[in-house]
Amino acid sequence: MKRKILVTGGTGYIGSHTTVELIEEGFEVIIIDNLCNSKADVVNRIHKITGVKPLLEVFDLCDQKKLDSFIQKHKDISAFIHFAAFKAVGESVNKPLDYYRNNLVSLINLLEVMKCYGIPDLVFSSSCTVYGQPEKLPVTEDAPLQPATSPYGNTKQIGEAIIRDTTISDKNIKAISLRYFNPIGAHASALIGELPEGVPENLVPYLTQTGIGIREELKVFGDDYDTSDGSCIRDYLHVVDLAKAHVIAIKRLIEGNNKTNYEVFNLGTGNGVSVLEAIRSFERVSGIKLKYKIVGRRAGDIEKIWADPSYANKELGWRTLSSLDEAMKTAWDWEKTIRSNKL
Ligand code: NAD
Ligand code: UFG
Repeated sequence: MKRKILVTGGTGYIGSHTTVELIEEGFEVIIIDNLCNSKADVVNRIHKITGVKPLLEVFDLCDQKKLDSFIQKHKDISAFIHFAAFKAVGESVNKPLDYYRNNLVSLINLLEVMKCYGIPDLVFSSSCTVYGQPEKLPVTEDAPLQPATSPYGNTKQIGEAIIRDTTISDKNIKAISLRYFNPIGAHASALIGELPEGVPENLVPYLTQTGIGIREELKVFGDDYDTSDGSCIRDYLHVVDLAKAHVIAIKRLIEGNNKTNYEVFNLGTGNGVSVLEAIRSFERVSGIKLKYKIVGRRAGDIEKIWADPSYANKELGWRTLSSLDEAMKTAWDWEKTIRSNKL
C-alpha cells in the first residue's frame, strides 16, 4: 500500500515541486492549503506532470477544529511535510503578529494532531536566515544561531525550538528541520514554478520579470560589501534539487534511519554567488542584456552566506545536481510560460 504523506502548503512554490517528487517516488500525497499565496489550479498542473491529481483540502491550519476533523478522516497518514507559512521578510517587519500567529499557531496545531493521532514524523521548512551573518563560511549546522533580524526569521528559530522540545518530551515524535538556502528555478515542464504576488521581493523573479519587460530595471542592493565584486553573496539552489531532499528526509524518518529524534540539515550547493554573477548567469541563458542599476543597501540584508552541505551530502546521500545556469534557465522558461498565458 502507498504511504500517505500530508503536505501543508502543497500548492505553493516549494510544496508543489515536492509533491511532484513524492508522487514520482510512489507516495500518495494529500495537501492542505488555504490558498493565501497559491492557486488551486496547481493540482491540475501536478496532474499533467505526474498523471496523478493529489487531494487538495482548502482551509487554514490555524483552525484547529478543521485540522482535527480532517485528520480524523485520514488517520492513515504516515508523515507531515510542513511548508505552509508566510515568508516575506520585509512584510513580517510590518505585520509581526500576523507572522507569529500564522507560522507558529499552524505548527503547534500540527504537532498537537501528531501527538493526538500517533502520527510520528515531521519534516519542517526552515531557513538559513536562522544563522544571521555567520562568523565562519561556509556555514555548518553547528554554527551558533544569531538573534533573528526579522519576525519571519524569528518564526523559523522559534519553530525549530518548538519542534525540538516536542521531540524531547514525546519520544514517539521524530522530526527533521531542513534549512534551505536560496531556492530558485522551476520544474523542467514549466508547468509549476514560483508565482510571486505583486512586485517580487526576491532576486530571481525580479530578474526574470525585468528580462520579460514587466519591470523597467533591476535594482542591485549595494556594491560596497566586503565581497569579490561588492554585491551580496548567496547560495542559490534549484528548487527541484531541494524538493528531492524532502523525499529523502521523509524516507529517513519512515524507515527509522534518523540518528536522533530531531535532526537539522543545511540544503545548499556549497557555492557562493554574488548578485552581479547571478545577473551574468541570467544574461547567458536568456541571451538578454539585463537593465540594472546599483542602488543603496537593502535594510536587514546579510552580506554573504553559503552552505557547507557536507553533512546532508554524507548523511542523506543528497547533493544538488543542477548548476546555477541550469536553474536560471528553468526560471526564465517559467517566466516566459506564465506571460504567454499557456497555463
Ligand atoms: P509559498 O508561499 O509559495 O508556499 C506556502 C504555501 O502555504 C502557500 O501555498 C500558502 O497559500 C500556504 N499557507 C500559508 N499559510 C497557511 C495556513 N495558515 N494554512 C494553510 N495554508 C497556508 O512559499 P514557499 O517559497 O513554497 O515556501 C515554503 C516554506 O519554505 C515556507 O515555510 C517558507 O518560510 C520556507 N522557506 C522558503 C524559502 C524561499 O526562498 N522560498 C527559503 C527558506 C525557507
Ligand atoms: N537583491 C537585489 N535586488 C532585488 C532583490 C534582491 O539586489 O531586487 C539581492 C539582495 O540584496 C540579496 C540577494 O539579491 O543580496 C538575494 O535576495 P533575495 O531577496 O532573493 O533572498 P534573501 O537571501 O534576502 O532571502 C531569501 C528569502 C528568505 C529566506 C532566505 C534564505 O526571501 O525567506 O532567502 O533561504 F529565508
